[in-house]
Amino acid sequence: MPVELENVSYTYASGTPYETEALENMSLKIKDGEFVGVMGHTGCGKSTMIQLIAGLLVPSEGKVLLDGNDINAKGYDRSVLRRNVGIVFQYPEYQLFETTVEKDVAFGLKHSGLDRGEVSERVRWALEIMGFSFDSIRNQSPLSLSGGEKRRVAIAGVLAVRPKIVIFDEPIAGLDPLGREAFLKLISDLNEDGTTIITVSHNADSMAEYAKRIIVLDSGRLIMDGKTRDVFSDVKRMEELRLGVSQPRLIADMLSKRGFEMPRDIVSCGELVSAIKERLIGGGCP
Ligand SMILES: Nc1ncnc2c1ncn2[C@@H]1O[C@H](COP(=O)(O)OP(=O)(O)O)[C@@H](O)[C@H]1O
Ligand SMILES: [Mg+2]
Repeated sequence: MPVELENVSYTYASGTPYETEALENMSLKIKDGEFVGVMGHTGCGKSTMIQLIAGLLVPSEGKVLLDGNDINAKGYDRSVLRRNVGIVFQYPEYQLFETTVEKDVAFGLKHSGLDRGEVSERVRWALEIMGFSFDSIRNQSPLSLSGGEKRRVAIAGVLAVRPKIVIFDEPIAGLDPLGREAFLKLISDLNEDGTTIITVSHNADSMAEYAKRIIVLDSGRLIMDGKTRDVFSDVKRMEELRLGVSQPRLIADMLSKRGFEMPRDIVSCGELVSAIKERLIGGGCP
């Protein structure tokens, strides 16, 4: 289910002294199964963009198309959007409000037409994917959980709907490195199973490792859009934009400067390790 922004602009508080143009004439198409990392400085429009994609904001100009249909057109069946596009906000743990974890995760399935048994199966599946034992967690109060657990429960609630597209706003902010790794592995697995992932992140290393495509926003405009490797290989531009360069890329460049010949397109940790191994075994070491 492809999603498309067609010349989208968005202005907050239009016509007031607080008017802010958050997005300007943005066009973008995201196809099935992509894993897109959205980068850019605070205030550049990332959250606005993803809320437009999820139908939570209506463009001031332009169109948002899901599967070719304008989601803001009169008569558009919004249930299609709700079933297919899930959004996980930054700090989703603050969104939990039901008395038990099971009820919380089942909330989004209320009008799904699934019977009780099916709902229960979905909730079990989503909680297990998020690393919980369904039977031990289902009756606990969300309030009794740790911060990390709350976040996982909140995400389970979005996944339970089985959306084809899942959007995350800074999902790894505030997680420790282990939690971050586990979380990215999880969304990567979802992506392997065919779910389209769109995620905002400031973490260049994580995006280099997991995203397949990177888009960069600056002052409400789309300024870079390409394969992760190509975007992160443009070290000069990424440095100019102060968006960070992936560490493996920096290390590969340092090694090259010291005569240890390295491919010019390394961006992820795995690639760096294999290149070094190859050089060591293949005798490329000076
Ligand atoms: N609810 C709002 N009301 C007014 N201005 C807003 C609102 N939300 C965001 N903005 C402004 O819109 C611009 C883009 O914000 P946002 O999409 O949140 O950026 P990002 O997620 O990249 O930090 C910023 O200038 C921000 O101050
Ligand atoms: Mg934001």
